[in-house]
Amino acid sequence: MENPSLPGLLLSFFTLLSVFNQVLGDEGFCSAPSILDQADTSSKPLYWKVTSPTLSPSHLQDLPGFTRSVYKRDHALITPESHVFSPLPDWENTLGAYLITPAMGSHFVMYLAKMQENSKSGLPPAGVERLIFVIQGAVTLTNSSGISNKLMVDSYAYLPPNFEHSLKCDGSTTLAIFERRYACLDNHITERIVGSTDKLPLLETPGEVFELRKLLPASMPYDFNIHIMDFQPGEFLNVKEVHYNQHGLLLLEGQGIYRLGDSWYSVQAGDVIWMAPFVPQWYAALGKTRSRYLLYKDVNRNPL
Ligand SMILES: *[C@@H]1O[C@H](CO)[C@@H](O)[C@H](O)[C@H]1NC(C)=O
Repeated sequence: MENPSLPGLLLSFFTLLSVFNQVLGDEGFCSAPSILDQADTSSKPLYWKVTSPTLSPSHLQDLPGFTRSVYKRDHALITPESHVFSPLPDWENTLGAYLITPAMGSHFVMYLAKMQENSKSGLPPAGVERLIFVIQGAVTLTNSSGISNKLMVDSYAYLPPNFEHSLKCDGSTTLAIFERRYACLDNHITERIVGSTDKLPLLETPGEVFELRKLLPASMPYDFNIHIMDFQPGEFLNVKEVHYNQHGLLLLEGQGIYRLGDSWYSVQAGDVIWMAPFVPQWYAALGKTRSRYLLYKDVNRNPL
């Protein structure tokens, strides 16, 4: 009998090792809890977790009275199990959930709109600007000359105040929408903008590691912006921010810990956060996948 070659020995060693690992894995000792098994998201559409009904840990979903939602003086966390949808005024075949409104102290609204077959948007009140971001499905945006754009997942549109338009859709679509009464400046007007996150350049973030994109121009006419911020697992905000601006946040992907004031919250895709001016705020991304969030921020106006 020939002596086994080195490669042969190595091969049997690794075969043994993999059998050993499989046994351990099947027994469940060394395998991660099932909630982490969803790390393989390659076959799923972008942002699928935002609208997935299985967001809460399954063993807590049926626990009577359980919610991660919190509402405090200077911040709120509004998690999917406490979203309440009802018909949106002036829209057709559309259910909406207002998640941030002036009743909390904000100067803007943020809501989710679930459009169905043959649905159509209404217009915002006079003087109110609107930004829509497609989370799931697709929507057709038409202006008053009848010119249309089809917006897919990850696309967005900014509609200036008093800009006539309609959004229509033929299937099921979920939009995140921000609206505020436009803070006019002399000699400045905003323009309609249509775009897609993946087409936007990465911006400088001195002293920080996260990746930043902005959906709107940083120029004076615009009184707010929407930031898209990406963190790899383990990355966190360097600055423990306290500032005059207010925020509305939708976590599109991933999970982590959000600090708001003296409270530390476990958060995951689908969660919405209201941050009042001056609430201390900080985020650390955890888990196995990228964290991405959408963040409203008021800009370019004197706070007086
Ligand atoms: C509608 O959109 C087209 C294409 O962008 C533009 O040329 C036209 O001026 C727009 N109409 C209005 C009323 O904004």
